[in-house]
Amino acid sequence: MALIQHKRRLNPTVTLMEVSAPLIAKKAQPGQFIILRVDEHGERIPLTISDYDRERGAVTIIFQKVGLTTELLDRLEEGDDILDFVGPLGTPTDLLDREHPGLELGPVKRVAVIGGGVGCAIAYPVAKKLHQQGTEVHSIVGFRNKDLVILEEEFRAVSDRFVMMTDDGSYGEKGLVTNALEKLIGEGETYDEVIAIGPLVMMKFVTQLTKQHNIKTVVSMNPIMIDGTGMCGGCRLTVGGEVKFACVDGP
Ligand code: FES
Repeated sequence: MALIQHKRRLNPTVTLMEVSAPLIAKKAQPGQFIILRVDEHGERIPLTISDYDRERGAVTIIFQKVGLTTELLDRLEEGDDILDFVGPLGTPTDLLDREHPGLELGPVKRVAVIGGGVGCAIAYPVAKKLHQQGTEVHSIVGFRNKDLVILEEEFRAVSDRFVMMTDDGSYGEKGLVTNALEKLIGEGETYDEVIAIGPLVMMKFVTQLTKQHNIKTVVSMNPIMIDGTGMCGGCRLTVGGEVKFACVDGP
């Protein structure tokens, strides 16, 4: 059982919950996820750990209402319990300097973090961790329109440069996150790495762009997951000709 300490609606379909889970909060790293079950008849769904507070033993999840389970989860209120809340699962996003294993990225390193829609819930903890370790963070976030914007203040607080994009131009600049990245690169910005998390098509176009500029790029894959521990094979995908399981090799 995990107690819902705090609930906040971020936009009409996206909700944030802070859940009491001290053991998960103690170990969680950006890029990892939990699997929850709302009640004993419920399905298991994976959700990203979008923040954690080790001292208060709290884990933050952000979810979009897309089906029955997220609808039922959204009906729970502060003080209610989630039946099962398991984690942290998955491999943390690799935020270490690969040239110098064991060393965190130094202050000279510069990373562009790109979030699309509710994928910002995953991109935010990555940006925050990079910022905390002294990396220069340029964040580009994109949404369909102003009403769907989430985590703007949080991103601004951990970003050296911040660009807001909306498809319809109702907030920030009009266009796609790739337009913003292209513009920054055109202005002479250079990046050691780009981390893009959002809809598959967005990540695809980001990687096509960064490939042209030879920038190492990390994306987050979110296929259907069942057990989340590498046993069922439901999250299998092929990366560079190799079979991987998103739940244990990624996301
Ligand atoms: Fe079952 Fe990944 S979710 S192997």
